[in-house]
Amino acid sequence: MNASSTGQPYPPPPRSVRPAGRRRVRSARVDFLVAKDDLHRCRVAEAAERELEPGQALLSVDAFGLSANNITYAMFGEAMSYWSFFPAEEGWGRVPVWGFAQVIDSRHDSLGRGARVYGYLPPSSTLTVAPVRVGEHGFVDGSPHRAALPAAYNSYARVEADPSYDPRHEYAQMLLRPLFFTSWLIDDFLDDGGLLSADVVVISSASCKTASALAFLLARRGHGGVLGLTSSRGAEFTRGLGVYGEVASYEEISSLPGGRAVFIDIAGDAGVRDAVHDRYREQLAHSAVVGATHHDKMGQLPESLPGPRPAFFFAPDRVAKRAREWGREGLEERIAEAWHPYVEWTGGWLQITHGSGAEAVERAYLDLLDGRIDPARAHVLTLTTRPP
Ligand SMILES: NC(=O)c1ccc[n+]([C@@H]2O[C@H](COP(=O)([O-])OP(=O)(O)OC[C@H]3O[C@@H](n4cnc5c(N)ncnc54)[C@H](OP(=O)(O)O)[C@@H]3O)[C@@H](O)[C@H]2O)c1
Repeated sequence: MNASSTGQPYPPPPRSVRPAGRRRVRSARVDFLVAKDDLHRCRVAEAAERELEPGQALLSVDAFGLSANNITYAMFGEAMSYWSFFPAEEGWGRVPVWGFAQVIDSRHDSLGRGARVYGYLPPSSTLTVAPVRVGEHGFVDGSPHRAALPAAYNSYARVEADPSYDPRHEYAQMLLRPLFFTSWLIDDFLDDGGLLSADVVVISSASCKTASALAFLLARRGHGGVLGLTSSRGAEFTRGLGVYGEVASYEEISSLPGGRAVFIDIAGDAGVRDAVHDRYREQLAHSAVVGATHHDKMGQLPESLPGPRPAFFFAPDRVAKRAREWGREGLEERIAEAWHPYVEWTGGWLQITHGSGAEAVERAYLDLLDGRIDPARAHVLTLTTRPP
C-alpha cells in the first residue's frame, strides 16, 4: 500500500488493460465500507464474487477520484439515495466515486470484455452491471435497484467515443469531470434563467474545485462581477487562481459590493448563507444550494431569511432537461468544448495525490471527512494493487 504525491500535475496514467480474450480468474470482491450512522467508522470487507447471470457484465474498478464531493454523497446518502446505487450489507454504505473501469467478464451479447468506460462506481475492486442501451457510446446499467435513481448517474461512457476523453487527462477526468459538469450546468442555468445580468455572482467555498470551475466559465463569458467567498486559509490560493474578479473572506460578507446579486452556495454553511442573504436582501435574484463542504455547519433555514428561499440545484435535473432539448450527445459535445480548455488550465495548479490499497483509501476519505483539504490537491485512488 502506498500514497504518493506527484510534483507534476498529470503524469501519464497507469494502464491495466488485460487482453480482451482472456477470462479473469475470479476472486473475492473488495469493498471500502462506511457505517451509515457514523461516517467516521469505516472498514474494508471481502465478499465472494457472484457468478454473472445472463445479460450481466463484470467491471474492474481501475481508479477513481476523491474530493469533498464524495463526502457530500455520504452525508446525503440516505436523504438523496446515494447509498442506493451500490448497496452493501445492512448498516453500511459504499460511497459513490467517479472513475474508470474495464469490462473483465461478460454474459452480455453486445458488450465484450476489454471495453474501457468512465462512470459512477463504488469504491470496490469490481462492480456487476446489467447493461442496457448498449451502443458505441457506452451503456446504461439497467440493474433493477438503479431503475428509479437519477439517470445521469447510470450511464457508462466508452472512452473512445467520449468527446471529453483525452488519455493524457485521465486523472483530471476522474477528479474534475463530475465537478466541472455541475459547474457547466450552473453556468448554463444562470444563462438560461437570465441571471447573468446580475452585478455580482457570489460563490461560497470559492477555493473548492466546483466553485473555481464555475468561476472559470463565468470569466470566460467576460462576467466581471464574480466574487469568491472563502476561509482566510484559502484566500491566497483562491486569488492566485485568477478567475475571480474579487475574493473575500467569510468575515467580510457585510461589506461586499452592492447591486443585484446571485448566490451560489457551495459551502452549505448556515452562517455564511444567512449573512449573504442579509447583505443583499431583495437585491438577491436567486440563491442556489449546490454543496455542503462545511457540512459541520449546516443549520435550519430560518423563516425570516431575507431575500428568496434558497433553491436546491440538483445537477441530474438540469441534465435531464438539456438532454431532452439537445439530446445527450448534444449536451456532451457542448460540455466537451468547454472541458478541454478548463483541463489545460487546471494543469497549471492542481496537484494529484496518488494512493493505492485500502489504507490509502481510508486515509484519504477520513482526511476529506474532517476537512483536512488542501484546495490545490486532490486524490486519485485504487482500492487494490492489481497484477500488471
Ligand atoms: N448539487 C450538485 O449536483 C453537486 C455536484 C457536484 C458537486 N457538488 C458539491 O460541491 C461541493 C464541492 O466539492 P469539491 O469536490 O469541488 O470540493 P473540494 O475541492 O474537495 O473542496 C475543498 C474545499 O472545501 C472547503 N472545506 C471542506 N471542509 C472544510 C472544513 N472542515 N472547514 C473549512 N472548509 C472546508 C474548503 O473551502 P473554503 O475554505 O473555500 O470554504 C476547501 O478548500 C461538494 O459539497 C459537492 O457535493 C454538488
